This record gives sequence, structure tokens and C-alpha cells, in this order.
Amino acid sequence: MPSLSRRKVLMLAGGGIVVAAGASATAFALTRTPRRALEPWERAGAPGYEDPRMRALSFAILAPNPHNRQPWTVELVGDDGVSIGFDQSRQLPHTDPFDRQLTVGMGCFLELMVMAAAQDGYRVDLDLFPQGASPDGLTDAPVALARFVPDKGVKPDPLFAHVLARRSAKEAHDMARPVPAEALEAMLTARRHVTAAGGTVDAADLPYWRELSRKALAIEFETPRTYRESVDLFRIGKREINANPDGIELPGAPLEILKALGLFTRETALDPGSIAYRQGMAAVMAPLDTSMGFVWTVTETNDRLAQIGAGRDWVRMNLAATAAGIAFHPLSQCLQEYEEMDELYEQVHQRLAPDGGTVQMLARIGYGPAVGPTPRWPLESRIVERTAS
Ligand SMILES: Cc1cc2nc3c(=O)[nH]c(=O)nc-3n(C[C@H](O)[C@H](O)[C@H](O)COP(=O)(O)O)c2cc1C
Repeated sequence: MPSLSRRKVLMLAGGGIVVAAGASATAFALTRTPRRALEPWERAGAPGYEDPRMRALSFAILAPNPHNRQPWTVELVGDDGVSIGFDQSRQLPHTDPFDRQLTVGMGCFLELMVMAAAQDGYRVDLDLFPQGASPDGLTDAPVALARFVPDKGVKPDPLFAHVLARRSAKEAHDMARPVPAEALEAMLTARRHVTAAGGTVDAADLPYWRELSRKALAIEFETPRTYRESVDLFRIGKREINANPDGIELPGAPLEILKALGLFTRETALDPGSIAYRQGMAAVMAPLDTSMGFVWTVTETNDRLAQIGAGRDWVRMNLAATAAGIAFHPLSQCLQEYEEMDELYEQVHQRLAPDGGTVQMLARIGYGPAVGPTPRWPLESRIVERTAS
């Protein structure tokens, strides 16, 4: 890092921070991409993965998942099996107390694995939760046993073409570009598993959903334990991201410089009186007001199988959005199961599931800027040794 004195950082009266840029700072900025953390996106489907299970898993690890925790473990069993497990050290006890969202993320993983296997002419027979599953939380018992079966009848899925381009895109939307009804329809019809899915791109509905999203995010921010859960997962700058390619990545030269100066750290971010806190909150709130549409999914039951199905469909809807050039940003706050969120949770369930059922997912959609991929642990690091079963 170039030597930068505090003098080069201007603190504005309104609380803004400006980092003075010079030639050395620009050169520095060009080196800050955490390339190692992004390598799994380049290695997906690489010729080095000769075993069809490894090829399929190399795509599965690119699945969307809450807080990018990547809770999956994999164990190759015999010549054609994979046992997919859950890593309890990756739980989110405050924002996801029953592992519902993490299970949805596991469903996203399984769907990508199945789609990738189909590309190679394999059907995947899945046995979900073969040892059962508790509604209270996931354990280290298998989430799924998968068997890869060569099958001439298996058809490639057109959505697979978008796996490497899929993102959870969290930026502001272009408010001059409404989302066409056909694009929403393409997302809703991409699903195969959940009971129901819905959405709106009607301008009259948007204020309600924007406001709800803001209120829910404010609750997560202002509830110390849920906010801390996010802050603990901050990976600030290239070195931290490469060392732990998961969680909430905050790349880029400006943040690295602020971190080096002690102005943006996990500690300052936690302090509600700090600029880091106020600007962090403003930065994540602002895009919500630009949202040009919303989509959601509802399951009749809320058992583990329903949650896996919700995940399988969620990634399909995300891929359909990618295919249509639409940015897709999950917003889980109002669906989270903790006391401070109860009122909004009830409100959204009254609106979307008045006759019962669980709203599993909600996302804002619109046209947004292109964004890059998020970090992943390499597939090899998720492989666990066979355990006695
Ligand atoms: C069940 C689930 C819940 C999520 N909730 C949120 C959320 O509330 N806010 C958000 O910004 N992203 C959310 N995401 C998106 C993840 O942050 C994202 O998938 C992860 O960081 C990996 O990034 P990628 O999807 O671009 O590969 C969620 C994803 C899943 C599967």
C-alpha cells in the first residue's frame, strides 16, 4: 500500500470521507482485485475435473447462499455417489435461527449440481435428508445423498448457460427502465418446486415494497446482535477476502485505505456514532428506493424438503433473471425469524400468504450495472473425508 497520511483523507462536514487520489493510488487500486478468491468461477467445469461429480460440484459451489457462508461439505462415495453435508460452523444464529435460509442455499447448490450433471448426460438421483432433519436446525447429518447415473434421456437445461453470469446484484436500478412483464413471467415460470411464486413490476406497488425493505433493513441494522452477525463476516480488502473467501466481501482500494487509517474497521462499523456506520447504512439503503420490481416465493409447508425446493427454484429464478438481463437482489430481512422482526414478518405473510404458508424468498429486480462475481472457497477445500455412517 502506498504511504498515505491522514492529511490525504478529507473528512467532510456532512460526514463524508474522500480519499485523495494520485498516480500511486490509481496504480494501487489496479492491484486490489482478490483474484484468488474468484478463481472457482474460472475453474468451474475445467478439464481438470474429469470425474463428472467433481465437474458438477465445481458449478454447484457457485450457488447463491445467505451471507455467502457456503455451508456445504461434499464427500465422494464409491464411484457414483456424493454425500452433501452441512457445516455447522457456518450457521447464522441471529438472522437465521432455524437454518431456514441456509437450507434454501443448500437447495440452490443441489439445483446447480443437478443442472451441471445433466450437461454431461447424467441424471442425479437425490435422497434428501436420508437420516431425517429437525425443524430446529441442521446438524452434520447428510443433507442429500446423490447418485450420478448416465442417462441418455436426460435433457440439458437452457438456464445452465447463465450459471457463470448469475449474480446477486445489489446496486441501484435504472429508474427510467421498467421491468417488462414478460421478464417477470420468465422468472416465475422458471420454477419447478415451490407451491407458489409471485411478483410485481406495477409502479403502484413499488412504494410499499421499497418502504417495507427499508424498514426491515433498518431493524437488522439497529438490532445489535443481528448487525454484529454481518459485521463479524466483513472481509475488508484483498488480503482478508483471499484469506476467507466467504461472508460479506468489501473489496477496493478506497476501503483498504480507510481500513489502514483506522477509519473503516469492524470496530468502527459497529459504532452507531461513527461515519463508517452511518455511511454503511446509507449505502445499503439507497438502492432499495430505486427498486423497479419484486419477486417472491411461498411454500405451503416450511419443512426441510420445502426449503430445499425453495432454494432449487430460487436459483432457477435468479438464472432466468440473468437470461433476461435483469438484476436480482434477494432481500431476506423481513422474512427473518427473530423477535424484533415479528411485526414485519407478520405483515408480509398477511399480504403474500394470507391463507397460510411460508414466504421463503423475496428479491428486488430491475436493470442495474454489471457486477462481478463474489468469492468462493475452492471445491477441494469443501471435500470431507468419509465418515462412518
Ligand atoms: C437464502 C438466501 C438469502 C439471501 N438473503 C440476502 C439478503 O437478505 N440480502 C442480500 O443482499 N443478499 C442476500 N442473498 C444473496 C447472497 O448474499 C449471495 O447469494 C451471496 O453473497 C453470494 O453472491 P452471489 O449470489 O452473487 O454469487 C441471499 C441468498 C440466499 C440464497
